[in-house]
Amino acid sequence: MVIAIDGPAASGKGTLARRLAAHYGLPHLDTGLLYRAVGARCLALGRLADEAASVEAARALDVTTLDPEALRTAELGEAASVVAARDGVRAALLDLQRRFAARPGGAVLDGRDIGTVICPDAPAKLFVTARPEVRADRRFRELAGRGEAVTYEAVLADIRKRDARDQGRSSAPLAMADDAILLDTSELGIEEAFAAALAVVEARRRGL
Ligand code: CDP
Repeated sequence: MVIAIDGPAASGKGTLARRLAAHYGLPHLDTGLLYRAVGARCLALGRLADEAASVEAARALDVTTLDPEALRTAELGEAASVVAARDGVRAALLDLQRRFAARPGGAVLDGRDIGTVICPDAPAKLFVTARPEVRADRRFRELAGRGEAVTYEAVLADIRKRDARDQGRSSAPLAMADDAILLDTSELGIEEAFAAALAVVEARRRGL
């Protein structure tokens, strides 16, 4: 079974995706890492503003070398959102995501356009969200815990800017699929959110 999980930055979708993948014994792809890696490559080349360079970086991406720890910085979240708005970058990353989803037995993918573009036929789709202030608080703790010099205010501003860019772009904007179930985790702890997500997936497994 393919489980598609979308939502805005720091909504908790990654944690839920990992937990669901472990529960069902399915492989998991955090598609944000792909865009972060492309952004990282462009920044390293000093060519973030260069569309052709970002498309080239996306085509050359080697998914076996992705380093989640190095990629989950605030700077690369912003760079990812810049390159992710470009059609050519998204097109270059489409096949590898679809191949991952087509693995025998299924897979869990999380991102912004999994339920709408990458896996529109996924039987189980979740759209995970939370209030911006709650998401900023979670992301601030995560980044500060990793030793990044950030402030809550800066993280909140970054989240608002990224939300606007991800929702407003013309290429595969962040949007909830018509057949996705909305899960607002603002008032939920990890265990409660996981229980709610599991209930959604189990209902879909039973064809409800
Ligand atoms: O963890 P967080 O939600 O902050 O970010 P992420 O999931 O790693 O994604 C970083 C950026 O990549 C997002 O702000 C999107 O612009 C972009 N992205 C996308 O466009 N499509 C995806 N399927 C995944 C990420």
